[in-house]
Amino acid sequence: MTALIAGNWKMNGLSPAREEFAAMIAAAHDHAAQMLVCPPATLLASLSAMGGDVALGGQDCHVNEAGAHTGDISAQMLADAGATWCIVGHSERRADHAESDSVVKAKAVAARKAGLTPIVCVGEVREAREAGRAEAVVEAQLSGSLPEGPFVVAYEPVWAIGTGLVPSEDDIAAMHAAIRQQIGAGPRILYGGSVKPSNAAAILGLPEVGGALVGGASLKADDFLGIVRAAP
Ligand code: PGA
Repeated sequence: MTALIAGNWKMNGLSPAREEFAAMIAAAHDHAAQMLVCPPATLLASLSAMGGDVALGGQDCHVNEAGAHTGDISAQMLADAGATWCIVGHSERRADHAESDSVVKAKAVAARKAGLTPIVCVGEVREAREAGRAEAVVEAQLSGSLPEGPFVVAYEPVWAIGTGLVPSEDDIAAMHAAIRQQIGAGPRILYGGSVKPSNAAAILGLPEVGGALVGGASLKADDFLGIVRAAP
């Protein structure tokens, strides 16, 4: 399976970010990896109108299709705006919005229902890693969060997100092997957390690493394409 390199722009990106996306589209056909950008929802429709081979995704969705939920966005709306993927259960959502595993699962189910492929994020906090409980934490998150049917898992140690810290290659490989054991053959397992052009080749070359979920380094086309180029 080709690697999936997914960019999570988080709460970043105004109209000029269209130029970065244009540069990503222009380079997409040069690379084997599948490219995905999850911009803020405000940019989805205008990036979608640009066409090209870079897929688009949401960063979160509501569990319901529509209704009285001021400020929320449904998976159906994301699909309507051009998304084909949706991140659910990112650690920033789990922390900032107190999203439990069951809420994350309901969001993943809602994404599937709208025709989006969910990217279900899991990952341990630093204390759990230090206490030797990382695999147990991730196993519990997976059992509580995964929907039926097609999905992608993103393993993102919380302490590695936006910090420049990255687990050792052995630790990444061990966690991905444990996740593979639990979910069975098929779904891609992405690694996320401080992926950049300089460490991408080593991370993407590890067994069971089927791609990357990239935050900070996905905002600039040059950085993002540096990671895309590093994919095996
Ligand atoms: P980072 O973020 O690449 O900036 O560490 C990754 C993520 O949160 O998906």
